[in-house]
Amino acid sequence: MMNAVSKKISFHDFQPEVESFRQAVLDGLSRKPKQIPPKFFYDETGSKLFEAILEQPEYYIPHIERKLLQTHADEFAALIKPGAVLIEPGSGSCEKVQLLLESVLPAAYVPMDISGAFLQQSACDLGQQFPWLPIYAACLDFTQKMILPQDVPQGRRVVFIPGSSIGNFEPLEAQHFLAGIHRLVGKEGGLLVGVDRKKDPAILNAAYNDAAGITAEFNLNLLDRINSELDGNFARDKFGHYAYYNGHLGRIEMHLVSLKAQQVTISGEDFRFTAGEYVHTENSYKYSPDEFINLANAGGFKHQKIWSDNHHYFSIYFLEAY
Ligand code: AVI
Repeated sequence: MMNAVSKKISFHDFQPEVESFRQAVLDGLSRKPKQIPPKFFYDETGSKLFEAILEQPEYYIPHIERKLLQTHADEFAALIKPGAVLIEPGSGSCEKVQLLLESVLPAAYVPMDISGAFLQQSACDLGQQFPWLPIYAACLDFTQKMILPQDVPQGRRVVFIPGSSIGNFEPLEAQHFLAGIHRLVGKEGGLLVGVDRKKDPAILNAAYNDAAGITAEFNLNLLDRINSELDGNFARDKFGHYAYYNGHLGRIEMHLVSLKAQQVTISGEDFRFTAGEYVHTENSYKYSPDEFINLANAGGFKHQKIWSDNHHYFSIYFLEAY
């Protein structure tokens, strides 16, 4: 369905199938070990808490990435090439792309997000700031399928994925995701992607255990969401936030830990928790440059250039499809 909002902004609703929160929670808590997929963090409160995480001094990713995007915008523009169509899966508030637009001058921008209302609002705000930019907003779940609105201009296509969201996929899923991007952009296309790196575990552990307790709130908010949306009776003071770097698997793991033996009822179903039992809520993989280049190659991309901060905490890669 196509909806013209203004001359340069169009909204395309690909009607994403939203996986049932109820089904995912009931299935996930019946497994051993218990788990809930991270995409369910992002209700209204969770999205606000995530915005607050981005402001925490220990969570270095946004600060470093913003600086890299500002400092190297002209280099990115030269690789993206004038007149390309810039596509951003999971575009959210469309904030980071704003650091690139004046240098890149794309022929069009295609933000993709699962939340239609948020997407429409962000696209309108962006359109006001950059009135020359044609925007084709696509409401879809980019983890399921990525398609472009039919009237998007022809020419080179480049996908932009900031924030190291690729780290929230399992490595094999990340490879399939990259292959999906390759299908979308074709052999002439490119990919600009932010990737968090392996580093001193103390830095990583601090980033997911900020002193202000915002990441803990973000994790525990899942229990509040279950209580209010799924008629649950979690006592949030009987659960704790646990995040640590699993060096063997190269990932931060986030869990909710049951502080005592207890039973919880959700939508009429009972679940038992032993004292110390974990509910796995998120993985965030960290990649060395060699590991990420291998992953990118397996997904159909070769690396063109890498930019990193002085401490080598975080990198931005420009990749060309082959
Ligand atoms: C969205 N994603 C890249 C974040 C990360 O670092 O994996 C999610 C997050 N979880 C806790 N803090 C941030």
